[in-house]
Amino acid sequence: MGMTAGKFDVDYRPRFPGGYRPGIGIVGCGGIVRQAHLPAYNKYGLRVVGAHDVRPEATEGVQERFGVERVYEGLDELLSDPEIEIVDVATHPQHRAPLVLRALEAGKHVLSQKPFATDLTTARALIAEADRSGLRLAVNQNGRWAPAWRTATLLVQQGVVGEVLAVTHLYEVSFSWTVGTAFDQIEHFAIYDYSIHWLDIIRCWIEGRRVGTVRARDYRTPDQPPEARTPWGMVVEVACEDGASALVRGVGCVRTARVGHPFWIHGTEGNVRGSSLGNDFVELERGGEFRRYDLEGAWFPDGFAGAMGELMSAVAEDREPYNSARHNLLSLAITLAACESADRGGAPVELEGGLE
Ligand SMILES: NC(=O)c1ccc[n+]([C@@H]2O[C@H](COP(=O)([O-])OP(=O)(O)OC[C@H]3O[C@@H](n4cnc5c(N)ncnc54)[C@H](O)[C@@H]3O)[C@@H](O)[C@H]2O)c1
Repeated sequence: MGMTAGKFDVDYRPRFPGGYRPGIGIVGCGGIVRQAHLPAYNKYGLRVVGAHDVRPEATEGVQERFGVERVYEGLDELLSDPEIEIVDVATHPQHRAPLVLRALEAGKHVLSQKPFATDLTTARALIAEADRSGLRLAVNQNGRWAPAWRTATLLVQQGVVGEVLAVTHLYEVSFSWTVGTAFDQIEHFAIYDYSIHWLDIIRCWIEGRRVGTVRARDYRTPDQPPEARTPWGMVVEVACEDGASALVRGVGCVRTARVGHPFWIHGTEGNVRGSSLGNDFVELERGGEFRRYDLEGAWFPDGFAGAMGELMSAVAEDREPYNSARHNLLSLAITLAACESADRGGAPVELEGGLE
């Protein structure tokens, strides 16, 4: 049975503050910036004042292709440009903390790629520095604005599913593309670098719950070639103190013509079923009725516009962004606990207190 038109409408699209288009400066112009940051900023008419990368070849062609106004040879040049208000740091995490700090010291708001930091102490120090400087520090958890996930988040926030009891995610994908890339060198890649988006959206959907323990296991799939270093298969379980739970299962070796990341949210009043990043859809079930949402756009690149748009809106409205580093701290803590658990063969790891 279908729902009455207009019932449980949500606006899942990226949002920008009216009339305010602050200049963006990009630090680290690698694969993801060319594949998603710049296409997203172009699509939504955001102004990229300039870009800098330690490898000059990385910024080649970005002016012609994406309308980036300037290329800076040095970081200082970018940071001293008064037309830049937001610095978008898109290097790998091990290079990122000092760059974020330098940008904050230069008086810029920062959007940092994920994983936000390699450890919680560094993450907290960066948050403290942003607070001290009166600047906004947000994390580029662009999955939060993937159309299907954003729709689900808004339904959860509006109480449409009641209390969230369980969240379940499945990756119906293959990680064979990591062979020969830098990602194959990342310890627990499937958990630490990839799943962090799924653990972050779990964090959003269990808002207000206290996480008790995290368990994880990663393993080589039977078909994984010897030269592929990082395990393709993994499972992470997040247990909240009140019994609510979440599960991420990464099959990692799927051969299918319909790649997708199906998910389920089971609540006391309703359920959400969907898929993001392939075979996108979202469906709400409530009171025996169903509604399927029309989704425009996709995680790549629209989610990236959503993450930047939220930071811009927060700056304009003088408030904490939804994707603030502070809000992302629990996602990072869950991810790091999952890596620790995998190191210990799946033993439960208790989350430190005080994170909600
Ligand atoms: N959905 C997503 O949000 C998503 C997807 C893919 C990658 N990522 C993340 O984005 C980050 C970068 O990934 P990538 O695939 O673009 O990597 P990449 O290696 O292609 O790009 C990183 C770039 O940073 C540059 N760099 C390194 N140190 C620098 C410094 N000190 N100053 C300026 N530039 C510097 C490198 O030269 C390189 O061009 C990673 O943290 C990764 O996890 C996010």
